[in-house]
Amino acid sequence: MKISILGTGMVGQVIAEKMMQLGHVTFMGTRNAAETIARQEPNRMTGISFADWHASHTDVQLVNFEDLPTDTDIWINASSGQASLEVLKKVTEKKLSKGVLLDLANPLNFSNGMPPSLAVCNTDSLAETIQRAFPSVKVVKSLNTMNCTIMMDPSLVPGDHQVFVCGDHDGAKRVVVDLLREVGWIEGNILDLGGLVAARGTEMMLPVWLQIYGKLGTGNFNFNVVRG
Ligand SMILES: NC(=O)c1ccc[n+]([C@@H]2O[C@H](COP(=O)([O-])OP(=O)(O)OC[C@H]3O[C@@H](n4cnc5c(N)ncnc54)[C@H](OP(=O)(O)O)[C@@H]3O)[C@@H](O)[C@H]2O)c1
Repeated sequence: MKISILGTGMVGQVIAEKMMQLGHVTFMGTRNAAETIARQEPNRMTGISFADWHASHTDVQLVNFEDLPTDTDIWINASSGQASLEVLKKVTEKKLSKGVLLDLANPLNFSNGMPPSLAVCNTDSLAETIQRAFPSVKVVKSLNTMNCTIMMDPSLVPGDHQVFVCGDHDGAKRVVVDLLREVGWIEGNILDLGGLVAARGTEMMLPVWLQIYGKLGTGNFNFNVVRG
């Protein structure tokens, strides 16, 4: 498949590496490819500069958001939640609507420092905002409730733990579920929560996630729904 990842941060990097390993043709979008590829400052999470990361992942094709391929099968929104609409606008609705949009971004607002607040919540979500802004795009929300290393390697957390999926387009959800299976998620741990309205809840898990992260001092954990 052809995968276009919108975002060059830690999440985009982890996903791109996995997509390459799985044999997918992988593109990564950024605002200015020439500037991004020359970036020497270390990523605040990984400590590795984009230039160094890309030097060891040269098969990942870095292009401007506007130049991502029209025949992309799965678009993965791994951009800052505050910038996602702007990023998707650069790609264009026409291109996005030809594939499926997997949205894993969280609407975190860091403008008042830590911990961040949610820029949208309760009666709306980032995923629904995206769906309204680009009505012909098939938006699926998933993967946003865990650290990116676990997204792409669920075996990092022992035992059962879940990835949530929601969206208004069943065919698009099936495409995303197939990709989740491919990266190692077992059937019983892929929890379809229904329509995209469920993204309100999964995005609102972030404040809880951040609190647990602060307490444990590691992002290597995930949520497990235990049935009675
Ligand atoms: N860290 C995790 O494990 C984790 C887990 C779950 C969900 N998430 C979500 O995943 C997303 C990506 O997180 P991240 O830490 O990898 O990266 P990030 O720093 O949140 O976002 C990086 C990307 O956003 C783009 N961007 C930032 N400001 C922009 C602007 N004003 N206009 C256009 N583009 C802009 C950057 O473009 P350039 O390439 O041009 O710089 C870059 O590609 C976030 O929404 C985050 O909440 C993260």
